[in-house]
Amino acid sequence: MKNELILILDFGGQYNQLIARRVRECNVYSEVVPYNISIEKIKEKNPKGIIFTGGPAGCYEDNSPRCSKEIFELGIPILGICYGMQLMTDMLGGKVAQADKREYGTTDVQINNTSPLFQGFDSTNCFLMSHTDYVQTVPEGFKNIASTASCPNAAMENYTKKFYGIQFHPEVNNSVNGIQVIKNFLFSICRCKGDWVISSFTQETIQKLKNKIGNRKALCALSGGVDSSVAAVLLSKAIGKNLTCIFVDHGLLRKNEGDEVENIFRNQFDINLIRVNAKNRFLQKLTGITDPEKKRKIIGEEFIRVFEEEAKKIGAIDFLVQGTIYPDVIESGLGKSSVIKSHHNVGGLPDYVDFKEIVEPLRDLFKDEVRKTGLELGIPENLVYRQPFPGPGLAIRIIGDITEDKLTILKDADSIFREEIAKAGLHKNINQYFAVLTNLKSVGVMGDGRTYDYTIALRAVETTDFMTGVWSKIPYEILEKVSSRIVNEVKHVNRVVYDITSKPPATIEWE
Ligand code: XMP
Repeated sequence: MKNELILILDFGGQYNQLIARRVRECNVYSEVVPYNISIEKIKEKNPKGIIFTGGPAGCYEDNSPRCSKEIFELGIPILGICYGMQLMTDMLGGKVAQADKREYGTTDVQINNTSPLFQGFDSTNCFLMSHTDYVQTVPEGFKNIASTASCPNAAMENYTKKFYGIQFHPEVNNSVNGIQVIKNFLFSICRCKGDWVISSFTQETIQKLKNKIGNRKALCALSGGVDSSVAAVLLSKAIGKNLTCIFVDHGLLRKNEGDEVENIFRNQFDINLIRVNAKNRFLQKLTGITDPEKKRKIIGEEFIRVFEEEAKKIGAIDFLVQGTIYPDVIESGLGKSSVIKSHHNVGGLPDYVDFKEIVEPLRDLFKDEVRKTGLELGIPENLVYRQPFPGPGLAIRIIGDITEDKLTILKDADSIFREEIAKAGLHKNINQYFAVLTNLKSVGVMGDGRTYDYTIALRAVETTDFMTGVWSKIPYEILEKVSSRIVNEVKHVNRVVYDITSKPPATIEWE
C-alpha cells in the first residue's frame, strides 16, 4: 500500500522539521525535501499536498531560494508558511514589501472563518508571527483571509486552486490551536485520510526488508542505544539468523549495562549476537590520556578497529545496518550538506568491512517515532526511553586519566543516583542525569579518621534539544539521600556536589 504523502519544501526556516512532525502527528506521512526538487521528482512522489516552509531570505533578493514554477500547475493543494507565503505571492504576481520593523511574538490575528483553512476557529486567534517582509498585494485569484494590527495580509486563499498562504507559524506550540490549521489543510483541503500509523510502518518495513534482503546476510553494530536497537530488532524480525549483531563493549558503559544489552538481544529476541569484551584494550589505549578530545578520538578509532576485526571473521556480507534516523539525513534546501551520523556516533563508518550496501530502516523516522516502533516491537521500556548516553561513555565523565578503579567508583555512584531518581519518579522530567568523577580529592572525616578522597559531581539537565538546557531543581531531600548513599556505599568518595550550571555557558557533559 502506498502511503498518502505531504511534501514539505524546505526553504531553510528553523521550524521545518517541526512542520513535518506535526503533519505526522495527524497520521499523514510527510517528507522534507530541498526547495529546488525537480518537478519530475514531485510528480513521481505524487503528494496529496505541498507545504512551503519559512526561511530567512527575502523573496525579492537576487538568489533567493525559489521552487520550480510548474509546481503551481500540478493541481496539488499548496500551503505557504511565512517565506513560503511571500514566495507564492511573488511567483504568482502579487507584491511583497519590507516592513519598517519586525513583527515578532504571539499576536492577535483576525481571521475569516468561512475559509476551509480556518474552519471551526473563532474570528480572533493568537498565533506566532515572526517576520519583517509581508504580502502587500495578494496575487490575482487570491483573497485576503486574515490580518493583524500591523500585517494587512496575514493569510490568503485561492479557493479554486486550493493555494493558501499564512504569515504566522501554525506548527509551534505558541500558536494556540495551530495544529488545527494544519489539520484543516490536510483533511479539508488536501482530503487526506490520515491512516499512517507506526504499527503499519513497522509491519510494512519488516516486509520490505524481507523482500529486499531475502536470504542474504546483514551485519549490525549494536550499541545498546535506542536507534541501533530498534534497527537491529526490525532486521531480525525480517531476516532472523541471517542478521548478525556485533556489540562492542568498551567497558565504559554504565553499571551492568553490557549484560543488560546482551540479555535483551540474545535471550529475548534470539538474535545472533557477538559481544566483544574489549575493556582492557580500550583502557590500555586510554592510559595516561587526559585531554577530552583525545579520549574521544582514541575511543572512536578503537571502536572501528574492534568492529572491523570481528566483521572480518564473519567474512563478506551483503548489507551493513545503520541506525540513521530522519533528522540526521534531512537535506536542507539551502545547500547545507546532509549529515550522516554513524549509529555508534563515536567514529564513523568502518573502512574495511566487506559489504555491498547500507540498509537504514529508520531513515524516515523521528526519534519519538523510533521509540514508538521500539515499543511496538516489544523492546523493554527502559531501553526505549533510555536517556542519551555519549558514544565515548564514562571516559568523558572521569575528569583526567582513566583507571579501572576510577571506573568502578563512577559506575557505583552513577547507579545510586539513577536508582534514586527513578524511585522518586523524576526520571520522566529530567532529560539527562548522571554522576561525574571529578579529579578532585579533598579532606573529609569518617568515623574517627581523616579521609582524603574523591569528589563526585551530580549533573541533571532538563532540555528538549540538548543544545540548550537548564539544571534540574531536584528536591533537596532527594539530593541528600543520594549524597548520603554515595559516601556511605562507594569507597573512596567523601564528598558529593551538585552542578547548578545551565547550558550555555556550561555543556551537559563535563568533558
Ligand atoms: P554537551 O556536553 O555538548 O552534550 O552539552 C550534548 C549532548 O551530546 C552528548 N554528547 C555526546 N554524544 N559522543 C556522543 O555520542 C560524544 O562525544 C558526546 N559528547 C556529548 C551528551 O551526552 C548530551 O546528550
